[in-house]
Amino acid sequence: MTVKLNEQELIPVMSTDNNLVSYEEAYKNFTWEDVEKEFSWHSTGKVNAAYEAVDRHVDEGRGDRTALLFSDASRNESHTFADMMALTNKFGNVLRSLGISKGERVFIFMPRSPEFYTAFLGSVKIGAIVGPLFEAFMEAAVKDRLLDSDAIAIVTTPQLKERIPVAELPSLKHVIVVGAEGETGEREVSFEKLMAEASDRLEIEWMDREDGMQLHYTSGSTGKPKGVLHVHNAMIQHFQTGKWVLDLRQDDIYWCTADPGWVTGTAYGIWAPWLNGATSVIRGGRFSPEDWYQTIEQNRVTVWYSAPTAFRMLMGAGENIVNKFDLSSLRHVLSVGEPLNAEVVRWGLKVFGKRIHDTWWMTETGGQMICNYPSMPIKPGSMGKPFPGTYAAIVDDQGNELPPYTMGNLALRAPWPSMMRKIWNNPAKFEEYFKLKPWYISGDSAYKDEDGYFWFQGRVDDVINTSGERVGPFEVESKLVEHPAVAEAGVIGKPDPLRGEIIKAFISLREGYQPSEELIKEIQEFVKKGLAAHAAPREIEFRDKLPKTRSGKIMRRVLKAWELGLPTGDLSTLED
Ligand code: WTA
Repeated sequence: MTVKLNEQELIPVMSTDNNLVSYEEAYKNFTWEDVEKEFSWHSTGKVNAAYEAVDRHVDEGRGDRTALLFSDASRNESHTFADMMALTNKFGNVLRSLGISKGERVFIFMPRSPEFYTAFLGSVKIGAIVGPLFEAFMEAAVKDRLLDSDAIAIVTTPQLKERIPVAELPSLKHVIVVGAEGETGEREVSFEKLMAEASDRLEIEWMDREDGMQLHYTSGSTGKPKGVLHVHNAMIQHFQTGKWVLDLRQDDIYWCTADPGWVTGTAYGIWAPWLNGATSVIRGGRFSPEDWYQTIEQNRVTVWYSAPTAFRMLMGAGENIVNKFDLSSLRHVLSVGEPLNAEVVRWGLKVFGKRIHDTWWMTETGGQMICNYPSMPIKPGSMGKPFPGTYAAIVDDQGNELPPYTMGNLALRAPWPSMMRKIWNNPAKFEEYFKLKPWYISGDSAYKDEDGYFWFQGRVDDVINTSGERVGPFEVESKLVEHPAVAEAGVIGKPDPLRGEIIKAFISLREGYQPSEELIKEIQEFVKKGLAAHAAPREIEFRDKLPKTRSGKIMRRVLKAWELGLPTGDLSTLED
């Protein structure tokens, strides 16, 4: 299919004082080997990303600079790089005292807090593979991930530990509870107690660049969530994209609004800022426009990385609120996770006086791949251009590159430094991404214009992107059919002006059940409690029958066509 642009609007460069001076020059000349030389491990071959992100600043005389500015409703704390070094050393010793060593999986399941970041980097320091989990996950979601990865330990809080089904997790030996009061249960230890006993000096585990570092579970269109493994080598990309895309300098106060349960909250909430020696602002609690603007004002945030849904909510809250706050500290604003509407970019220009720079990447790519750079004109609605040292293309289903303005598969030439190295326990799934060698097939469809800018068009599969969170329809359907009233369920993403997409479920009921508002609420609650709040369908529609293939697969494509009032297309495989 050939597409035509409605508009060729261009927002010119606003500052010439950028880390990346010329995109064209860099794209021609840059190689990843140039970056490797930036790190002390270039000569030894051994590495630990946590050393480079924390201890190195202390060793080079920057230990008293602020690393973390944390706040939530009850705490307001600032920690220097030297503090973070001591804390993460202690936590590394805690894990070692429990007998945990290189390569073992340690999960963190708790809200954003200084302890979260301590545990995260402390785990990496002893060579463990760290797996962050959203605090919103309920028991089934937690269990799936811990079982699949054979996790040996989990760091959590007294409230959240109730959702860890310890008895069903034979590999899980230690539940490390932060803020525990009174007695501790089976396999439980107190974070505070062990930290108090631990030394703040640690023998760092020196790793090979290809050794595992972090494991992020993410959703696909079929099956259970996939454990995407990243290795220490990813830091090369985290560092360089932090420098050129986020434009970070050591005196920046940088705020990434993403939760570390999502890859953005680790790659760009931890690694990129700290590898670049910048201060990272972490704000706990829920979203509210006042709270967010206040966070910028109070911390004098200079670089701000957020997501389209958040920008749309801020836009919806109106300009009057913006004007109540002093946002003059902002130098650079960025977005990721879903399509960034041209309208939002125009709004940002008007109210912040800043361009919002869209960036495209995926859990699997481990780092930013297609971006708008401060030194490049922006076309509102476009994701930008490939990062220097990488190559992106639009290819057909055989892997042939397509000309400009032709829609096709968004593909990247493998490999790049932060590319995933495996899908945990699932080599076949991993291979699927690379079946058209040398391409990595993203699952997104897009086109490229004649200037080399990429334009997002949609997902090729059924994966739902609601407020920037990837939800696999299969997971939601599986949970829905566990409800006694549900016979069959088909789940789709329905376009939504605020959230990008919302989850809509089509349900056929079992004998003896009648559609009702109460039943809708009950089913929504059931998914919220069983899986996660963000996975619960906002809309439920009851149907006598769902469209299925002869082999019994629910045809989400047909559900989507019903929803959008579009033709249903080829129905030759439909059951009846
Ligand atoms: C979508 C990790 C449009 C896309 C960051 C991708 C985007 C999926 C953009 C990855 C963007 C991400 N414009 N769509 N700038 N960035 N996406 O792994 O469909 O949770 O494949 O995100 O989000 O989701 P993930």
